[in-house]
Amino acid sequence: MTAEAPPVTRDSAVTLREVTEDTVRTICDLSKTLTETQRTHVADNAVSIAEAHFSKHAWFRAIYADETPVGFLMLYIGPDDEQPGEPTVWFLWRLMVAGPYQKMGFGRRALEQVFDTVREQGASEFITSCVPGEDGPERFYRRLGFTPNGKWYDEELGLVLKL
Ligand SMILES: CC(C)(COP(=O)(O)OP(=O)(O)OC[C@H]1O[C@@H](n2cnc3c(N)ncnc32)[C@H](O)[C@@H]1OP(=O)(O)O)[C@@H](O)C(=O)NCCC(=O)NCCS
Repeated sequence: MTAEAPPVTRDSAVTLREVTEDTVRTICDLSKTLTETQRTHVADNAVSIAEAHFSKHAWFRAIYADETPVGFLMLYIGPDDEQPGEPTVWFLWRLMVAGPYQKMGFGRRALEQVFDTVREQGASEFITSCVPGEDGPERFYRRLGFTPNGKWYDEELGLVLKL
């Protein structure tokens, strides 16, 4: 008989962990827990991990609540494509929290850890983009203090947070 993992609660410890050979399938499968609409707002984790494999600028981690994998995030850390030679930008490329674990504060707490990490790397602002509107993540980002940066990235609204 295997011991059952204790239930995840809002008080669970949030950590960012490397994806490993042992966990990659589980992390990819988290994408299946999103609603159909949510899956149009963020690439599947399998796609993100594949893209990261070919990018010099991708940094990604799984989000854990205690010992339970609950999400995934990926950053672009590198030169701004639009301004070659310009300083590094820190861009939240992907973020998802699995359906059963949404609205428990894990997205916010995971990003707060990212903010601390990128501040240590010298970032003074953090950028992301999202599909605008009520049924997407825009209000989540605004709750965290992001505001529009006046740019569009394809069809997505650009948002910035001063760190
Ligand atoms: C967006 C997402 C990552 C939010 O993660 P989460 O763990 O559910 O968010 P949190 O519980 O940390 O929420 C933080 C705050 O944002 C609010 N919030 C979260 N989702 C929200 C939503 N869809 N609409 C309005 N407010 C929202 C919460 O109520 C909370 O408010 P508070 O500060 O008053 O407590 C998650 O809903 C998700 O994975 N969505 C699908 C994928 C996606 O859209 N990713 C973003 C791609 S750009």
